[in-house]
Amino acid sequence: MQMLYNGKLMERAPVIDIEDRGYQFGDGVYEVIGVYDGEPLMMAEHMERLQRSARELRLSLPKDMNDLRSDLEQLVKANALQEGIIYLQVSRGIASRDHEFPSSLVPPVIVAYTREEKRPTALEDQGGTAILMDDIRWLRCDIKTLNLLPNVLAKQKAVENHAVEAILHRGDTVTEASASNVFIVKKGHLYTHPADQYILNGITRRKIIELCETLSIKVHEEAFTVSDLLEADEVFISATKLDIIPILQVGDNMIYDGQPGSVTKQILQAFRLLYQ
Ligand code: PDD
Repeated sequence: MQMLYNGKLMERAPVIDIEDRGYQFGDGVYEVIGVYDGEPLMMAEHMERLQRSARELRLSLPKDMNDLRSDLEQLVKANALQEGIIYLQVSRGIASRDHEFPSSLVPPVIVAYTREEKRPTALEDQGGTAILMDDIRWLRCDIKTLNLLPNVLAKQKAVENHAVEAILHRGDTVTEASASNVFIVKKGHLYTHPADQYILNGITRRKIIELCETLSIKVHEEAFTVSDLLEADEVFISATKLDIIPILQVGDNMIYDGQPGSVTKQILQAFRLLYQ
């Protein structure tokens, strides 16, 4: 299995320095890119979001984005990956451990590898459950940083409750889930939290909004409450790796009749056509 380390393809090996700032401070950004039938999906959007995340953290990416993109495409080919993901991470580099930024001469460390993974088609068709948790994250959830401890704790709690996801709320407002965006359907209209600092603007989320236009489904990028969620006609989550998963129950509360809803199914079908 090949990995990419600062622009070079090499055999996957432990190469992380103990003073890599990604390792010590979570000082870096990342992307997870879906690969379908040997082709990365929505690569341009992922590259653009990586650039934005880096800019927000004042982390300068050393390379032309087109070079990085072709390196990643080469990595997919080198590993003959058909179905799975690319994990890409950029840290602020290796320097003596001090909280402030190191000298601008310290180059970032860029690593990437691939992982074979089947799409969770059964879960997409049948749906799963979710739990509710307080959103205890910082106020810049729009940046895809390596700091994921609140997300890790939330997902662990979900798994312990045999749920697919932990849906997060700040006060009464539903934001997103531990590693996915959240949508509800009410009277045929779709609602999802606006893309501000409280959520990560998912690439899958954006694609769903785009698809809804062609499906003539009205989308409201508006915050909704926990009771709106529990009383919704349909609930689903979206993310790379998961695609679109209907949520049939949140905590002890069944969503409508506890079956995947027709709007969700319609969107899932349109999403599958992107890569089939
Ligand atoms: N996570 N919100 C959060 C907090 C996420 O971590 C993710 C994705 C999303 C959905 O974003 P996208 O559609 O671009 O994958 C929303 C990735 C998959 C991860 O950390 O593994």
